[in-house]
Amino acid sequence: MITFDESTQVFHLHNQQISYLMSVEEGNLLAHLYFGKAVSHYAGERAYPRRDRGFSGNLPDSSERDYSKDTLLQEWSGNNTGDYRVPAVIIRDENGARQTDFRYQSYRIVAGKPDLENLPHSYVVDDSEAQTLIITLTDTALNCDLALSYTIFDNWAVIARDAKLINRGSHVLHIEKIASMQIDFPKQDFQVISLPGAHARERQVERQEVGHGVTQFESRRGTSSHHMNPFIALVHPDTTEFAGEAFGVQLVYSGNHQETLERDYIDQTRVLAGINEYDFDWKLSPKDVFQTPEALLVYSDQGLNGMSNTYHHLLRERVARGKYQYAKRPIVINNWEATFFDFDSSKIQEILNNAAPLGIEMFVLDDGWFGHRDDDNSSLGDWFEHAHKLQGGLKEVSRQVHDKNMRFGLWFEPEMISTDSDLYRAHPDYALQVPGRGKTLSRNQLVLDFSRKEVVDNIFHQMVKILDNVKVDYIKWDMNRHLTEVYSAALPADQQGEVSHRYTLGVYDLAERLIERYPDILFEGCSGGGGRFDAGMLYYFPQSWASDNTDAVARLKIQTGTSLAYPMSSMTAHVSVSPNQQTGRATSFEMRGDVAMSGVFGYELDLAKLTDAEKEIVKKQVAFYKEHRQLIQYGDFIRIKSAFKGNDFAWEFVSKDKSEALLFRFKLMSLAQPEFTLTKMAGLDPKIVYEDEKGHSYGGDELMSIGFYDVPLEAADWTSKVDYFAAKERA
Ligand code: DGJ
Repeated sequence: MITFDESTQVFHLHNQQISYLMSVEEGNLLAHLYFGKAVSHYAGERAYPRRDRGFSGNLPDSSERDYSKDTLLQEWSGNNTGDYRVPAVIIRDENGARQTDFRYQSYRIVAGKPDLENLPHSYVVDDSEAQTLIITLTDTALNCDLALSYTIFDNWAVIARDAKLINRGSHVLHIEKIASMQIDFPKQDFQVISLPGAHARERQVERQEVGHGVTQFESRRGTSSHHMNPFIALVHPDTTEFAGEAFGVQLVYSGNHQETLERDYIDQTRVLAGINEYDFDWKLSPKDVFQTPEALLVYSDQGLNGMSNTYHHLLRERVARGKYQYAKRPIVINNWEATFFDFDSSKIQEILNNAAPLGIEMFVLDDGWFGHRDDDNSSLGDWFEHAHKLQGGLKEVSRQVHDKNMRFGLWFEPEMISTDSDLYRAHPDYALQVPGRGKTLSRNQLVLDFSRKEVVDNIFHQMVKILDNVKVDYIKWDMNRHLTEVYSAALPADQQGEVSHRYTLGVYDLAERLIERYPDILFEGCSGGGGRFDAGMLYYFPQSWASDNTDAVARLKIQTGTSLAYPMSSMTAHVSVSPNQQTGRATSFEMRGDVAMSGVFGYELDLAKLTDAEKEIVKKQVAFYKEHRQLIQYGDFIRIKSAFKGNDFAWEFVSKDKSEALLFRFKLMSLAQPEFTLTKMAGLDPKIVYEDEKGHSYGGDELMSIGFYDVPLEAADWTSKVDYFAAKERA
């Protein structure tokens, strides 16, 4: 899969689907040549076309005027050495110089994929699945090595990349910036797709031209954030869901991130992704090593669905881990939108009495069971049971839940502290804060300094006390504000720029310790909805709450955007009350169910308030979901129509062997003279005859090429229809 041609100095990483080409150029600069559809042979046509260009200088001490770092397509750009584009790395030397100039030294190829220490990453189960090229570059003046890793998987259109800096000298260095990956693309018209959003409006799909200058996507909030997901896709103007090229870049990281595009003066495009340089300054003492997070690059020549499909498989099969990686995820009833903080034993008993006969499989006790928490003003950091709320305590609740043959889930918010808490009274310095300044409250809470091991240890031990005593089958790990006063009482002045990354490492450390100690617990990530929905968290928690917005119509967009980069098995979605508590919109029970059923399904409402007719609908939804759960959670997901522009959404789940498919269609606004719109299915076997639930037969080719009319079922806004097709015979 990986070759190096000594005579041409060209590296070629390739499998059946992709090729990635680099060369060692003049001056030992590592040049980027190509990333895209697989080629079997490369004759050298992408070598840098030399040309003397004004105001683009040449290599130090060279008079060769037609060779410039400023226009060379590179794998890794330095700083202050004649490449005026955005650099991949900036290192400050003891003398204040910020020149950074890495040149090729050596390479090695290893079977499989080495782990990234203390950071989430993609992995192999067997070394034959992948090969990794590790290229060492050196900045001789800084006496610093940079190990660039490129893993190619044998059967996916994926290159996993990361970088490692090693201080081999005797100076203390400071890393002011370090990306996880860089690619410089030759001239072509690019558009970029990003996933911006907000709390309760996560991952909206935005597509824009990549114009001259710098286009940047980032989070400075201390987490990957609702506001800008750590994922972008570069596409061409003619790329659609089904055709054209797409280049995905996704970080396996949950903290401050930065994805940068720069279209230069000859229309080449540089792409960088990594930890955000904002507020980042890492002290690298002699012999220290700094490991960047991983970036996952995906290539598709089958449009955005091709790219998403690769990410879905990769994240599900080689990023997620543990017992629940492929397990059927239970149908949940969560008490949050039903009771908020206002619950007691009888209320919970009522929920259980209603949930069990409907076939719901797990009860999740959300926020409010600990300390003296009756609203959001207190008790975060006090992970001991609320003295008055639950008769017999959590043990009794757990017993009652298990008695009903259901599983028991519990909410935690480990990274937070309320000023009204025993923990804060004992350790006020555990909260992030800048000495002599005020502390910013958000949702009435402060953030624990997870860059400190003793803080992480404290929370771990408190959680262990609960989890060792109460039978808990699931944990929802929440995080309800972003970081401010990013300063740690435990670090010296010259290391304060490390706090936000160390915070993220602290989160990973606690997550790793918990999943290791409790391998039977299913963990769900959450951050005020989908505020930390990223591949980093997915490495620890195989599913995540997609949004606090449970409105079915809003969710169509949120789940579509999320599906660009993340598998449906990672996306939890619940039916809640109508009118919806976040948007005030009224939608039918069926529509809410069809949207929520497209992910990891559950309910989040007061079941006791449902009418008998509604309970019958719930029973049907639960039974339908159980029947098709495997297909929805682990089948291939295909976006057919997306109403970011338009009036219809349609998506589909197809089993691996193409023997069954589920088609979901949604219409937004009702029209007086409705158009006859068509839906054509995708991903089926053209030679199979499929049968729907009414016993009608269709050829796979017929469903895909001819399709059928979406005759509106009723004159109403926000309607949905689900059709199931199963293989009947081969044509
Ligand atoms: C935000 C989460 O997204 C909600 O589902 C709920 O758990 C609340 N926090 C509880 O405070």
